[in-house]
Amino acid sequence: MCGIVGAVAQRNVTGILIEGLKRLEYRGYDSAGVALIEQNGDLAVRKAVGKVKAMTDKVDAAPVSGTTGIAHTRWATHGKPSELNAHPHTSTHIAVVHNGIIENHGALREALKSKGYAFVSETDTEVIAHQIEDLIKQGNNLKVATQKAVAMFEGAYAIAVIDTRRPNELAACRSGSPLVLGLGIEENFVASDQMALRQVTDRFVFLEEGDFVYLTLEGYSLFNEQGEPVERPVKQLTDEHVVADKGGYRHFMLKEIFEQPAVLSRTLQGRISKTRVMEQAFGADAEKIFDQVKGVQIVACGTSYHAGLVAKYWLESIAGLPCNVEVASEYRYRRVFVSKDTLFITISQSGETADTLAALREAKKSHYLASLVICNAPNSSLVRESDLVFMTQAGPEIGVASTKAFTTQLVALQLLTIALGRRHGLAEQTEADMVGSLASLPDQIETALGLDDTIKHVSEKFADKHHALFLGRGVEYPVAMEGALKLKEISYIHAESYPAGELKHGPLALVDANMPIVAVAPNNDLMEKLKSNLEEVQARGGKLFVFSDQADAFPSSEEVTVIDVQSVPDTIAPMVYTIPLQLLSYHVAIVKGTDVDQPRNLAKSVTVE
Ligand code: G6P
Repeated sequence: MCGIVGAVAQRNVTGILIEGLKRLEYRGYDSAGVALIEQNGDLAVRKAVGKVKAMTDKVDAAPVSGTTGIAHTRWATHGKPSELNAHPHTSTHIAVVHNGIIENHGALREALKSKGYAFVSETDTEVIAHQIEDLIKQGNNLKVATQKAVAMFEGAYAIAVIDTRRPNELAACRSGSPLVLGLGIEENFVASDQMALRQVTDRFVFLEEGDFVYLTLEGYSLFNEQGEPVERPVKQLTDEHVVADKGGYRHFMLKEIFEQPAVLSRTLQGRISKTRVMEQAFGADAEKIFDQVKGVQIVACGTSYHAGLVAKYWLESIAGLPCNVEVASEYRYRRVFVSKDTLFITISQSGETADTLAALREAKKSHYLASLVICNAPNSSLVRESDLVFMTQAGPEIGVASTKAFTTQLVALQLLTIALGRRHGLAEQTEADMVGSLASLPDQIETALGLDDTIKHVSEKFADKHHALFLGRGVEYPVAMEGALKLKEISYIHAESYPAGELKHGPLALVDANMPIVAVAPNNDLMEKLKSNLEEVQARGGKLFVFSDQADAFPSSEEVTVIDVQSVPDTIAPMVYTIPLQLLSYHVAIVKGTDVDQPRNLAKSVTVE
């Protein structure tokens, strides 16, 4: 959450900071700001409510320059989005940007107020600025003052600090929120995501929990939580980690939906032979660990949680293993019962989601067999802290609503199901059939994308709707959940999902001509049951939108719109049926005129609790 960029260089860094913020805007976009130490030693600050563009307009109107600076794009936690609450926050000579939450800010604020510090914002961040200024007044330099201040803070945060008395220096640290150091030639940078700095360097040091870094023009010094000097590996990143542009598409989300055939191919590459899953894809120790697995606990948030719910059906019915799935924010605060030889799995596009990371750390205190992460971000915290890693190959996902990350996660989870299933009686032929279906998936997704025009047309029927119900049964129920989440995220239509059999126990009361009901209805062993559920809806005047490969089973009428999906094997139906639902939410958002890539109030990478 929130994006941080900082720079110490010999050239004017204003443009570098602003470009960094644009690349980080997916992390939060309700306000933005920049602070630079000007040549005369003054601190120049520009802030604006809204997107980075609003702030750059201010910079254009009143240009600033400096060789040392920090910048921030905000997702509000303490205090509403406003110019006063936007970062950087200052205290005389100090400017600070901050990501995360200082939990004990109230007590610190009172103590600082009693010393005469005046607060102008409602944020917890302002405490950091005054605390560091106060410690400098007591005779500490920027480095020591920041280290001492950090030791006083409780919570999870990443911060970057500059001091006009020390131009060409910058202090930064991470404790619970990601931070990366970018290395240039006689210039150095920090950011909350390497993507922000790819314009200036490809050499990075990923800070570990508790790390503190002090940047100068010549280099940097790094210290661990105990204040001891440490060295961390310098990683040279390749072009595949560079954030791409919209590639001719109107929105990142649409581009990412259409990238799915290619990224699913990439995710499968080297992970399957013609008939088998290669389990080395899960790490060198996977084979040994998988031999012992007797159960699975999955923890994730948002869309990744839905991927976990799909996997539960697969792991129990195909691999014959018990599987629990829970949202991370609940799991982390619950006393859990851990059965012997249970594999703990996290699923995360970003690898930085605070609740998921905290859940993993909690899990490590319990008696799990081992941890596995299914992740899309190399070098992320979850990747670094898990025993086994499966990297999805979705490439950078910029649209806040997750699309290609979800389908690649499903592929990863199906490969895992097969790998574990082998040890629990999954027949070789079944494995070969599943692998064959997975190999055909990119082409099947391409075919499903062909529904784009049909769905665009259908989306107009949602233009005046305020609510929608999504129904599915069996493994298609979590697919319906994901469809509902997509619609609410980007079109702001209130959408709920239900297992279709549950309709009669309450939600049927909501059904009338104003309630669109979306049904995920591939021809499987539950289709007849689903059909009866849909008849209950029709009998109450509901408007049905049925996605099915059995168009004949649901004749189109004034009340029933059938979207004809191609027939596919059951094992890949969840991925294939996800595509038209993603397209539906996209086109409804276009009809509604909402901000598709950066929907209100949301952020892509949620690194606060
Ligand atoms: C945020 C994003 C969602 C995402 C969730 C989990 O809420 O807006 O799209 O599914 O976080 O993120 P993760 O990176 O852990 O998959």
